[in-house]
Amino acid sequence: MNPKSARPVLALLTSHWISIFGAALVTTAVFSWLFVLPAHVHGNTSNPYIGLFVFIFIPVVFFAGLAMMPVGFFLAKRQLATGLRAAPDRKTTMRRVAIFFGVTTFLNLLIGTQFTYRAVAHMETVQFCGQTCHVMKPEFTAHQNTAHSRVTCTGCHVAPGASGWLASKMAGTRQLMDVVFNNFPRPIASAMESNRLVPASQTCEECHWPERTTPVKVRVIPSFKDDENNTASLTVLSMLVGGGKPGGIHGAHIGPGIEIRYAASDAKRQSIPWVEYRNSATGKTVAYSAADAKPETIKALPTFTMQCVDCHNRPTHAFELPERAVDAAMADGGIPATLPFIKKKSIQVLRTEYTSTEDASAKIPAAIDAYYRQTYADVYAKRSSEITRAAKALSDIYNRNVFPDLKVTWGTYPNNLGHTDYPGCFRCHDQAHSAPGGAAISQDCNVCHQAVAVEEAAPEVLKTLGVAEHLTQIK
Ligand code: HEC
Ligand code: HEC
Ligand code: HEC
Ligand code: HEC
Ligand code: HEC
Repeated sequence: MNPKSARPVLALLTSHWISIFGAALVTTAVFSWLFVLPAHVHGNTSNPYIGLFVFIFIPVVFFAGLAMMPVGFFLAKRQLATGLRAAPDRKTTMRRVAIFFGVTTFLNLLIGTQFTYRAVAHMETVQFCGQTCHVMKPEFTAHQNTAHSRVTCTGCHVAPGASGWLASKMAGTRQLMDVVFNNFPRPIASAMESNRLVPASQTCEECHWPERTTPVKVRVIPSFKDDENNTASLTVLSMLVGGGKPGGIHGAHIGPGIEIRYAASDAKRQSIPWVEYRNSATGKTVAYSAADAKPETIKALPTFTMQCVDCHNRPTHAFELPERAVDAAMADGGIPATLPFIKKKSIQVLRTEYTSTEDASAKIPAAIDAYYRQTYADVYAKRSSEITRAAKALSDIYNRNVFPDLKVTWGTYPNNLGHTDYPGCFRCHDQAHSAPGGAAISQDCNVCHQAVAVEEAAPEVLKTLGVAEHLTQIK
């Protein structure tokens, strides 16, 4: 391009505000890209939603700017042709170019250093993932007050390193678009259901060592009956967790050399008609099939390799059932266990349907208040602050487990650790999965735990251990 033709082009470009603005957008987009991209490519930013920035927002700005430049150019040319505008001289053009560069560079530095950098840093936080978008409210709420509340969302949902970043950014971008267009499912599918969970070897096992051995873990489980006295009891289980050696719960499924694969016939993986056990150390390979499963149907099903999250699928999004949540609250005193019929009444109000969080926060306390006012006038007169406390605890329980607008309710997300509330371990350990020789996956009550006490008022073992006085239920 010779200088003579370059000059009019520059002159025309700087003559119309549309092309000036377009040029500013283009440079700003390029500048923002330069700020975000390096960290992105190195895998330093793990947030999937930053992809929206890099792949959609910035390119849109870039191309909008690019499109505005010829528009301004031709408008300016037409104005020149019709004599509406005089051709700018070289000095004016140069002055405009200088002002343009001065202003856009200043703005870009400001945007790049202040806005872009901070936006990216902010997008890495739990607050961004969990609170910016109300769709995540159930998971964010259930992430509070668990052993993993300080583990970031990206710590479990994005594979470390550069390997998984593109997939995660693409998925994140698509999810954000679904939210923008109000096109997401309610309730949203569990991560395993939608097959989007990063393998536990890249998340859980970054912090937990699979070979770690825990011979026993003692669990003390409180429960209250629905009689007038809310009769309290405790179950004490010694969980045979095990570990490194192929023994105990962990050793049996994830011990060295062991691989268990299974086929599931539903997306939530609650129905498992086929299980294969392989132990490379002993050379043992067995396949167990459910009594009613046909080989042709099994062949067509997707298979998975057992990992931490097949049992611990709710390590942090620990949604509760009403009975469990109320038992726990009564055990720790949040709900006074001496209020007559409080257990029964609590379950009743929690199992009622409310149209929204606000509706529940208003109606639950009102129902509890009315119950004691009408049925136990003496208790109501003397213990109003305890009644208010129970009512508050109940609306809290409801609101951290039920999200009417997102269609998340009691039991929406099954917990696979156990067998009393959901099928859990008994999806396979039901005595109905057997190998060709007749051997079945064990349902023996003592292979997973020793039940030291089952629903006893004051288990002897807790006295022996010297912990009875620390448990409020034991009188
Ligand atoms: C300790 C690991 C861990 C952390 C930390 C974590 N998640 Fe999860 N998340 C999981 C697992 C495991 C599942 C799969 C549950 C299933 O499929 O049953 C899941 C599932 C989900 C789902 C799908 C819906 C559901 O409940 O199954 C969403 C949405 C989600 N997580 C969002 C978040 C958000 C937002 C944060 C941060 C506030 C977060 N997660 C932090 C492990 C984690
Ligand atoms: C960033 C590190 C980190 C990651 C990732 C992580 N955990 Fe943990 N986890 C911990 C720590 C630390 C504790 C102990 C917390 C405590 O005792 O308060 C813990 C505790 C636990 C416990 C015992 C829970 C309890 O209530 O005592 C289980 C089970 C567990 N993790 C499973 C998992 C599973 C399954 C995953 C993957 C989905 C996972 N963890 C991912 C750090 C992590
Ligand atoms: C076959 C199901 C199963 C699998 C697979 C499994 N766990 Fe567990 N795990 C359990 C059970 C059951 C307990 C006892 C929980 C209880 O009752 O508190 C337990 C206990 C734990 C504990 C607490 C005990 C302790 O040592 O402090 C941690 C942490 C844990 N598991 C982490 C993991 C991790 C990490 C993986 C994957 C490497 C994993 N588990 C795989 C069933 C499983
Ligand atoms: C996907 C199927 C599956 C699920 C779900 C499952 N297991 Fe297993 N489990 C197996 C298989 C297969 C074996 C090994 C059977 C064999 O030795 O041939 C096994 C073995 C065991 C053993 C050793 C039994 C023995 O006789 O020594 C224990 C303990 C155990 N499981 C506990 C659990 C617990 C606790 C859970 C739930 C938290 C659970 N399992 C969930 C498939 C499963
Ligand atoms: C495959 C392993 C496995 C087998 C077999 C098994 N359990 Fe369990 N059981 C568990 C796990 C895991 C839990 C949950 C522990 C927890 O809450 O951390 C549990 C919990 C329980 C609880 C406590 C329930 C509650 O209120 O929380 C009782 C009671 C119980 N089991 C009884 C039995 C009986 C009776 C049998 C024999 C029919 C049996 N279990 C067989 C793994 C097993």
